[in-house]
Amino acid sequence: MHPQTGKSILTTRQGHPVHNNQQQRTVGSRGPATLENYHFLEKISHFDRERIPERVVHARGFVAHGEFEAYGTIGDEPAATYTRAKLFQVKGAKTPLSVRFSTVIGGRDSSEATRDPRGFAVKFRTEDGNWDLVGNNLPVFFIRDAIKFPDVIHALKPDPVTFRQEPNRIFDFMSNTPESMHMLTWLFSPRGIPANYRTQDGFGVNTYRMVNAAGEGVLVKYHWVSQQGVESLTEEQAAAIQATELGHASKDLYEAIQRGECPRWELCVQIMGDDEHPELDFDPLDDTKTWPQDAFPLRPVGMMTLNRNVSNVHNENEQIAFGAGVLVDGLDFSDDKMLVGRTFSYSDTQRYRVGPNYLQLPINAPREDVPVNTNQDGGPMSYRVDNRAGNPHITFEPSSVAGLDQADESYREYRPFVSGQVIRAPIDRQNNYAQAGERFRTMPQWERDDLVKNLVNLLGQCDKQIQEKMVWHFSQCDDGYGRRVAEGLGIADHS
Ligand code: HEM
Repeated sequence: MHPQTGKSILTTRQGHPVHNNQQQRTVGSRGPATLENYHFLEKISHFDRERIPERVVHARGFVAHGEFEAYGTIGDEPAATYTRAKLFQVKGAKTPLSVRFSTVIGGRDSSEATRDPRGFAVKFRTEDGNWDLVGNNLPVFFIRDAIKFPDVIHALKPDPVTFRQEPNRIFDFMSNTPESMHMLTWLFSPRGIPANYRTQDGFGVNTYRMVNAAGEGVLVKYHWVSQQGVESLTEEQAAAIQATELGHASKDLYEAIQRGECPRWELCVQIMGDDEHPELDFDPLDDTKTWPQDAFPLRPVGMMTLNRNVSNVHNENEQIAFGAGVLVDGLDFSDDKMLVGRTFSYSDTQRYRVGPNYLQLPINAPREDVPVNTNQDGGPMSYRVDNRAGNPHITFEPSSVAGLDQADESYREYRPFVSGQVIRAPIDRQNNYAQAGERFRTMPQWERDDLVKNLVNLLGQCDKQIQEKMVWHFSQCDDGYGRRVAEGLGIADHS
């Protein structure tokens, strides 16, 4: 305690008091400086390392904490009909969670009013360990095979020479990627710039499975329905915001929670029997498609409330690590070809971005009452031995002496039967245009106008051959869609 001010004393991380935080140690008042200047060297060298690599995508984001309250049911049926996941079973049961909202393409300090999908990643801290539902605010995606992810992101990121997001690069790629038309129709509509993070829905996008106690599976898509409603910005409104404020959405979320206006989203699922569904004109595992809600209604599962802000952005936002493969018992993968790639990619980048022991950080570790006992050992920044119940000498399994045992083998793993030739091939039911056309036709007139205007603005900066290819694709979606974009560009519609 400082005798005059009563404040705590500034120390080094070695616990030594700092007596002078104003001047380096120098020979005389004008220098040169000395090297045996521990506090100065520690202060500067830690500062030099204050940043970790930003996320390769979704670098700009903001975290809030809260809880999920289960209804105990999935639609009108007990949750146990479809899944044995514990967090859904009991009406009123609460699960703590953290959410990170983000933009995708811009860097860590870029504008939050940009036209871009918004990340909607939720980390549920369940009694069975963590479940991450890593979604977006738009229900579909640009591509359906994970092998194309680096390409779509490279096309959307700034040009490696000019460092500008170049429309010609974006639409060069998209015009050669017909499955992107549905996502582009969402992205260039008003939905492409949510007014803020509270007034947007969320979607798991990929198809997952739920598995019940009998080991039976169903296919499932997740939806977060905003209780604040959905609001978007026009280009002009977004431009006016980002003229003076780059982080309006984080600010809005933070301030709403500080005021006690805690935003809420209802979690709903769509459910489909676990087979190929030959009666549909799309593949249920294709993430460029939505499932029609008249055939596959939204069934409410529970409510999420965000009620606590972060206490430190670096620890809770930069270091939080979500993964599409982080599931709990009763929630499972599907064969969605994006999901398998995502499952590898997230933890791979986190080992690079945060470090191999990223799961020991409090923001990523399972909650305290969940046992974590592994035989993993060492690595940079190892903070503790994750073997609270085991024998510290036995870091292997099996052992006749002591150590950890694997869990009961009667555990009912979901075991789909698969057979077939190992090949590289596109899926059969691609149907790249129908849902994009339907989406266009169901938009109110002003949204259609806005969509066409936004596309024409960017396509107007592209080469003629790329414009023509894009118009051709839009015409396949809907005649009027292609015609209006062609008119806007002043070119003939060759469809
Ligand atoms: C195969 C396709 C994909 C790959 C390889 C991929 C890869 C990645 C990577 C490497 C990150 C950075 C993670 C980190 O540094 O912590 C990331 C972040 C993210 N991705 Fe994907 N992604 C894919 C598709 C998708 C899709 C379809 C969605 C939406 C459903 C999505 C939503 C997100 C979100 C929300 C984040 C930010 C998570 C956070 O806030 O920390 N990604 N993705």
